Amino acid sequence: MSITSEADWRGLRDVGHVVHLTLEGLAAATKPGVSTRELDSIAARIFAAHGAQSAPALTYAFPGTVLISVNDEIVHGIPGDRRLAAGDVVKLDVTAVKDGYVADAARTVVLEGGSDEAYRLAACAEAAFMAALSVARAGARVNAIGRAVHDTVVRHGFSIVPSLEGHGVGRAIHERPAVPNYFNPRQKDVLTEGLVLTIEPLITAGSNEAYEDEDGWTIRTMDGSLAAHHEHSLVITAGDPVLLTAA
Ligand code: CO
Repeated sequence: MSITSEADWRGLRDVGHVVHLTLEGLAAATKPGVSTRELDSIAARIFAAHGAQSAPALTYAFPGTVLISVNDEIVHGIPGDRRLAAGDVVKLDVTAVKDGYVADAARTVVLEGGSDEAYRLAACAEAAFMAALSVARAGARVNAIGRAVHDTVVRHGFSIVPSLEGHGVGRAIHERPAVPNYFNPRQKDVLTEGLVLTIEPLITAGSNEAYEDEDGWTIRTMDGSLAAHHEHSLVITAGDPVLLTAA
């Protein structure tokens, strides 16, 4: 969507705040021994307390409130009985809908004892996000985002996954335009003031190939390597984008 009113700003800031609070709550509870289902119920309580609902559950019948993916799981992991262990690389992905507005954000938590590679990978996902943020301006092409992400990830010696990308957001989870994590010279879309979208580097320490698990949801790295994810929903302006899902 593109923002056209004060009501749009209020609605997006409001749902963005719920997503932020939920990620804070989840990150604080992401510790060895906790199950991903227990984390999911924390998210469900925060959503309920703020009158929000899970957008993936509503839109796609996702069997959970939030998406929790561990180690080689890149994204779309289903909360369940799995208990987190020291050193796990945990991707928390939260998409809420409230009063008809949708915001989406994700972060990677490396549990104490993680490998050097795990910490570097998580830091790279965040650095790639920041690099993309610095070129996301009204008048620039959408593909400048992918170029910035890809350049950063390659420089760190890691890989993006071409099939996983950012997207427009705001009224639904997945809106136009697609926001790939690589430079697509054929994509002519231009960023415009008020456009709401996600930037979300989804990266791996190994192969750029992914596959869908038998559960029909979880996307894993083909070679079993670790994955990281960093995402915010934001509004394009003539200057710095406005982050809807940050503090
Ligand atoms: Co997203």
